[in-house]
Amino acid sequence: MPQPRRAVVTGAARGLGRAIALRLASDGFEVVALDVDGGGAEATAAACGGMAVSCDVSDRRSVAAAAEQAERDGPVEVLVNNAGIWTYGPLIGASQEDIDRVISVNLLGTLHCCRAFAPGMVAAGRGAVVNLSSLAAAMAATGVEIYPVTKGAVEMVTRQLALELGPSGVRVNAIGPGNMLTEGTAPAYEGDRMAARAASVPLRRIGLPADIANAVAFLVSDQASYISGQVIYVDGGVSAMSR
Ligand SMILES: NC(=O)c1ccc[n+]([C@@H]2O[C@H](COP(=O)([O-])OP(=O)(O)OC[C@H]3O[C@@H](n4cnc5c(N)ncnc54)[C@H](O)[C@@H]3O)[C@@H](O)[C@H]2O)c1
Repeated sequence: MPQPRRAVVTGAARGLGRAIALRLASDGFEVVALDVDGGGAEATAAACGGMAVSCDVSDRRSVAAAAEQAERDGPVEVLVNNAGIWTYGPLIGASQEDIDRVISVNLLGTLHCCRAFAPGMVAAGRGAVVNLSSLAAAMAATGVEIYPVTKGAVEMVTRQLALELGPSGVRVNAIGPGNMLTEGTAPAYEGDRMAARAASVPLRRIGLPADIANAVAFLVSDQASYISGQVIYVDGGVSAMSR
């Protein structure tokens, strides 16, 4: 019997990461649900018959240990760098702690995971990485401190690694979600704010985690075998206004 293909999803305890993990499991992947929230990672792993790993992606040693655990029973073919955080306020007024933390999770966390898992993919001669960017990288936004800068950098990491790893059969792409309803963003949609924000989206609705999971499932599938170095905005058409 062929070995099940293994996929690591970071930030899998809730929100987009959980939906991605469940979708990849239903597509036949053996999922490794990785999160700094170990209990949440366990819950996702239990729901999709996968493995849970407690890991802080901003900590290089924690990521190295997680990679060793995830690769113990076989190669990891898919990496979804979804773990991410954001803070609110103007960029100039942001605290140094906020700036350091958001850079270390969103940018360095993505890098640590790519650097930990890419060698195994290169050795296997195949693999797919999907990084979670944001609509905030396509359209400058105020009020979220350093967050858009980190996502812009994640897009450059995506293109750089697509060039570096492509000759080894490893594809690297990114998805830029628009306004999505998750545990992390739910407070922003309370009351009548949901309808008001939906009205500014060409497709007239806020996105759901399944919208992102569908796009990830496509990008890691063989149907996307000639797609690398791209960013797909899954945003109901919002970024079309900026181009
Ligand atoms: N929800 C949106 O509207 C939206 C829009 C654009 C981009 N995104 C991006 O999508 C991703 C997921 O967003 P979400 O709304 O599901 O977020 P969320 O807050 O609901 O969930 C994020 C998950 O990441 C985990 N996490 C946070 N820091 C971590 C760390 N250091 N190590 C490991 N895990 C960590 C959290 O525990 C949590 O389970 C993020 O990268 C975010 O920037 C989301």
